[in-house]
Amino acid sequence: MNFQKNLQLKSFAEYKKAYQESIKDPETFWDSVADTFYWHKKWDKTLEWDFSTPEVKWFQGGKLNITENCLDRHLDTLGNKTAIIWEPNDPDEESRHITYRQLFVKVSHFANVLKNNGIKKGDRVCLYMPMIPELAIAMLACARIGAVHSIVFAGFSSTAIASRINDSNCKMLITANEVYRGTKKVNLKTICDEALQNTPSIETVIVYRRTVEPTPMTAGRDVFWFDELQKATKECPAEVMDAEDMLFILYTSGSTGKPKGMVHTTGGYMVGTTFTFQNVFQMDPDDIYWCTADIGWITGHSYIIYGPLAAGATTVMFEGVPSYPDYGRFWEICDKLNVTHFYTAPTAIRALAKQPLELVHQHNLTSLKVLGSVGEPINEEAWHWYNDNIGKSNCPIVDTWWQTETGGIMISPIAGITPTRPTFATLPLPGVQPILMDEKGNELELKAEKAEGRLAIKFPWPSMARTIYGNHERYKDVYFSAYPNKYFTGDGAYRDATGNYRITGRVDDVVIVSGHNLGTAPIENAINEHEAIVESAVVGFPHDIKGNALYAYVTLYNGISPNDTLTKEIKELVSKSIGAIAKPDKIQFVSGLPKTRSGKIMRRILRKIASKDVSNLGDTSTLLNPEIINKIISNSL
Ligand code: WT7
Repeated sequence: MNFQKNLQLKSFAEYKKAYQESIKDPETFWDSVADTFYWHKKWDKTLEWDFSTPEVKWFQGGKLNITENCLDRHLDTLGNKTAIIWEPNDPDEESRHITYRQLFVKVSHFANVLKNNGIKKGDRVCLYMPMIPELAIAMLACARIGAVHSIVFAGFSSTAIASRINDSNCKMLITANEVYRGTKKVNLKTICDEALQNTPSIETVIVYRRTVEPTPMTAGRDVFWFDELQKATKECPAEVMDAEDMLFILYTSGSTGKPKGMVHTTGGYMVGTTFTFQNVFQMDPDDIYWCTADIGWITGHSYIIYGPLAAGATTVMFEGVPSYPDYGRFWEICDKLNVTHFYTAPTAIRALAKQPLELVHQHNLTSLKVLGSVGEPINEEAWHWYNDNIGKSNCPIVDTWWQTETGGIMISPIAGITPTRPTFATLPLPGVQPILMDEKGNELELKAEKAEGRLAIKFPWPSMARTIYGNHERYKDVYFSAYPNKYFTGDGAYRDATGNYRITGRVDDVVIVSGHNLGTAPIENAINEHEAIVESAVVGFPHDIKGNALYAYVTLYNGISPNDTLTKEIKELVSKSIGAIAKPDKIQFVSGLPKTRSGKIMRRILRKIASKDVSNLGDTSTLLNPEIINKIISNSL
């Protein structure tokens, strides 16, 4: 298989034509895309769907293994091409270049380790790993044998790991002893050991030694990665999967209760992520692509691993942080590796834009051709800084809108092919049918005028999540009940007269902090565990680097007065139950929360106060306790 350029649209006219065709006859359109992959058996039915149940099936009857598409089929022509370049946290440590052939061998070898340790098709395996090639190897090894990986971002707490392991009954946990992050070393194994006290389904823990430090191991449960490799053979034929077999579970925050285990399946996910990767980024065979996300998020799954590898591209994995050894690290790496395609998050851009420009100018960025942005709306200022200083006004910026649930990019420019525009994700990719809904649930027609509303999608696309693991009812409730027969995204959007979309942000109780999707309900639950606390309300407010930060309003039991220890304990509770990323920036102790007569907390008002936008709070007279509002405002932080 050659480097897959055959999927790329090459002009605006071609895009328009493909888009029209993909809407008129989606099945024929996706058939022709899917035909470019390696299938053991061709599918019998391209699409079957019903958004009311909701049920979506792509390429039914098709048989394949995604790793054969990411590895085996490239070996003849791309065997010696670098698949993964790994850049360590410490710039003095050597980077690793892994060819497609080497990756193929490593994945097959480790797949046998999984088998030797009792993992079979359909078993769930939790991965809690740093950004090292072994994370890629472990996930692909799972896919090789049909096991379902559930990757938990290595910044989550032990409680968060345990709840995710238990939700999907993982049989195995794969981790590393320690991880380097800037000047810090974090002991992942200790965090796992804490989680493992409450995870009865875990039979085996495989530990990769990233450092030489002694690692506490529990006999009969924990084994070392390296020791297990010695016992395993190197050849592992791929398990033949059905197109709709589960490929992975990835947890994302919900606006209520526990995280949602989004389920992605094999065939559609592969077709969708590869097609969008090829088109949005428009890579040439010798290009070097770097996405700075962590593989623990969907961006890393789809656009560090599966999409780029299926396309036969060279993909960079970076272990460290943008600030180490200094804030020029990203640009240093682009220079060193001759990165051509650079994909990052607005929060990183804003943080780097605050640093002296010297840190950019020290490095040669002439290799760059395309810049990408993902995770939250990119503000005008950050867009221009990125465009002027990194792209030197010479690289299209693809502002890619999508979600964990969508699996792949939905609305985005196609680099160099369709127009870009600051703060706009612009046009839907082929096969994507976005619509805007008004408050009454009517579709805002695409007329020659601007529209603003809630973003929904009215037709299935191959890489969409099929369900929430173990809870199909919740899947239906969250995504398919706001508007009958439509997928609701949770985002608000604006559309101009030419059909370009600008995403304005979440309209539900999810806040995107530094590009991390956080539900406010689980944070409130964590805070409410404190014995001095009656209740709390957490909302987002604008923050110039993080995009949004969290503001917690907290009420205390009678007789208890606010103090610094309480503030510290609240932050610790949140860290422990979710992770440090969810700690509120501001905590205000209040004597009561504004509530409706039915007892619902008026988060809309609290959001406005947190944002220092109190000029128009709307009609508050119908509240249960309208007098509380002025008190909150006068003590606000
Ligand atoms: C939410 C999904 C997509 C992978 C990373 C985040 C926001 C994402 C953009 C963008 C404006 C964006 C939305 C979306 N978002 N990309 N280009 N412009 N907003 O995945 O954690 O599932 O979060 O991120 O609000 O709903 P996620």
